[in-house]
Parts: sequence; C-alpha cells; structure tokens
Amino acid sequence: MVLSKKALAIEASMTLAIDAKAKQMKQQGENVVGFGAGEPDFDTPQYIKDAAADALAKGKTKYTPASGILELREAICEKLKSQNGLTYTPAQIVVSNGAKHSLSNVFAALLNPGDEVIIPSPYWVSYPEMIKLSDGKPVFVKGEEANSFKPSIEALEAACTPKTRAIIVNSPGNPCGNILSRKELEQIAELAIKRDLVIVSDEIYEELVYDGNEQVSIATLSKEIYERTVTVNGFSKAYAMTGWRLGYTASPLEIAKVMANVQSHQTSNPNSIAQYAAVAALKGPREPLEAMRAEFEARRNLLCELINAIDGLSVKLPAGAFYGMINITKTFGKRCGDKLISDSLSFCDTLLEAQKVSVVPGIAFGADGYIRMSYATSRENIQTGAARIAQFVQSLV
Ligand SMILES: Cc1ncc(COP(=O)(O)O)c(C=O)c1O
Repeated sequence: MVLSKKALAIEASMTLAIDAKAKQMKQQGENVVGFGAGEPDFDTPQYIKDAAADALAKGKTKYTPASGILELREAICEKLKSQNGLTYTPAQIVVSNGAKHSLSNVFAALLNPGDEVIIPSPYWVSYPEMIKLSDGKPVFVKGEEANSFKPSIEALEAACTPKTRAIIVNSPGNPCGNILSRKELEQIAELAIKRDLVIVSDEIYEELVYDGNEQVSIATLSKEIYERTVTVNGFSKAYAMTGWRLGYTASPLEIAKVMANVQSHQTSNPNSIAQYAAVAALKGPREPLEAMRAEFEARRNLLCELINAIDGLSVKLPAGAFYGMINITKTFGKRCGDKLISDSLSFCDTLLEAQKVSVVPGIAFGADGYIRMSYATSRENIQTGAARIAQFVQSLV
C-alpha cells in the first residue's frame, strides 16, 4: 500500500520496544519496577476534579471557541502576569489538547519546507518528529554532561544557517532536568535577535524547580524577545493532569491567529470540561503544587544518592523536572551472562531481563552513554529499583 512519505519518515519511539516488554512482563505477574514514566504519579488535586464535575453537571459539554473559553484564556493571562511577569491579552493565548499539541501548532504555524529548527541535545523525543511533520529540519546541538548537558552559545551559533527559523528552549528540561540561568537565556536571546530566530520556549516543567533555583521565562528579557517568543506551557506536570490533555501557547498575535486557524480545522477546540477544570487549577490554592514539588525534590535526592553509591554509575543532581540522566559508560564492554553491554539499549534490555527494572535508553534522546530515570514514582520503588540496579551493575564482568 502506498502511504505518506512524510508520515512514514516519522520514527517509532525507540523506547517503545522496552516499554512493551516491561508491560508484558508486568501482565505476566512479574514484579517490574518502572522508572520510565513521564507523568506525576500523584492524583489530580480534588478541587480541580470538583470543578470538572460541576462543569459536567451544568452541561458545559458543547463546542467552545477554537482557542479555548475566554474565562480560561483570561485566567492564563493573569497567571502569566503574576507568576512569570509576562503581559498578554486573551487573543494571544491558544489553548490546545496538551502542550504537545501546542508545540505541533507552533511548528505548523512557523515552518516552511526546509526551515531548520535548533534543538539542544539531549532532547525530548517529540521535538524532531513534530518538526519533520511540519516539513522542517531538526538540527541538533549537543550539550556535554560537564555543563549540565547545555550546549555552549558558540555551538548554538555555529549551527545557525540562513535556513534557521527557530530555536527550542526547554527549561527545566526533559530528559536532563537542567535549568538555563538568566545569563544563558540572555545569550540565547541575543543570538535569536542577531539571526532573526523565533524562540520556542517550552516551560511545561516550570513548577518543578529545586534547591531554590530560578525559572526565568525568556520572553520577559526584553520587548524585542517578547515579540519573537512563543511560550508553551500546560497542566500535565504541575497539576498532575496528564490525561486531561490541556496545554497552551502565549505568543505574538500574528502567530496566535494562525495557530488558532490550524487548530480549528484539526480538532475544533480543546475538551470543554477539561477547560473548566483548568480555570479552577489556575485560580485554586498553590499548596498541592508545592507539596508535589517538595516530594519530587526529596525523591530526586534519594535517587541520586543511591545511584551515586553504585560503583560504575554516576548522576549529576538535576536542578528541575523529574528525570535524572545516569552515566552508564563504565559498564560498556562488560557482560551479563552471554549478553554484552555495548550501548544504552543493550543496558536497558539486559537490566530488564536480569533484574526486572525498566529505564529509558539515552539513545532515545540522542545520548547513548546514559539512561533516563524518572523519579515520578514512590520512594519505596526508588529504594527497590536502585538496589536491583546495584546488584545488576555489580554482577557485570
Ligand atoms: C518537554 C516536554 N514538553 C511537552 C510535553 C507535553 O506535555 P503534554 O502534552 O502532556 O501537555 C512533555 C511531556 O512529556 C515534555 O516532556
């Protein structure tokens, strides 16, 4: 059968095979400890669920404006003003079915065939595929572990060509949990002005910041930057609302109009009930958010301490989000029985078989010397999983 060349060029998630194997083992009753999840294990706070129940009871079950209900877009503007120091009007806000959908809209609105988008690497798996779906070309710029996986400004500039249209900023970032300082953001902002780039600032992990670190929205840096930035955010991570599917963009009006138009034909509007729940989320108490953040910080400390105690593995304390990138290069060339550990995939596959622990191979994020461990799981799981990983690494010869 002849299928779309563009769609066929989209890579299947490399993590899928290991994930499928882990799920199958679980179904067969095996006690698998999972560190793959990209979602909080907490339940959505009750006041948000109550608002959804109320919306449902009141029959708020019809189509809404394509960009989202005005009440929600106003609440987002208030949040951006009070929390991020950004001034937007509701017309500049487009609410979508998750931040992933928001990002797809951004690339659909910005890119023409062959336009290049700079992606700092290691990177979140969906950026390159979303860019390719919009006929763009992902250009990766590698960051080294010694610099918290952040590429230097010189490397970012060297990757720019006359075709470069945009640059992605993801801070706090997935998969490395790194945070860009104000100074680093200023350098990127300067580069964007110099090379006439749009900045796509994915701030989905903004609430998950540790050790008193500061998360700065790059659009606050100057009027010039504000006018070339699309800020992307959502409700999945901060409010434990992954399944509700709600994200948003704040951008120059010109871009917002195009994105709203694209969205109106693709999905009409985001889910009406979820939108009412999101209004409550933004207007509700911040204590549940802080409680989740503090628990993530404690789990991060626990995971990093346990992993760094294993001879042969190391991890730098991530500053935000809920992932750690574990350096596994010292295990390469060793064997577990007849299985050779030669890269992140073989490490993950062998670990799953030998100790029933599932982690994500770094190759999925462009970093083959690492595994990504999510600490969006209980402290008990972290203890058990780390003990099994220690046994696995010690058993390698
Ligand atoms: C960096 C990053 N951006 C965006 C998203 C999308 O979040 P959602 O579509 O659930 O709002 C994710 C989800 O894992 C992510 O890790």
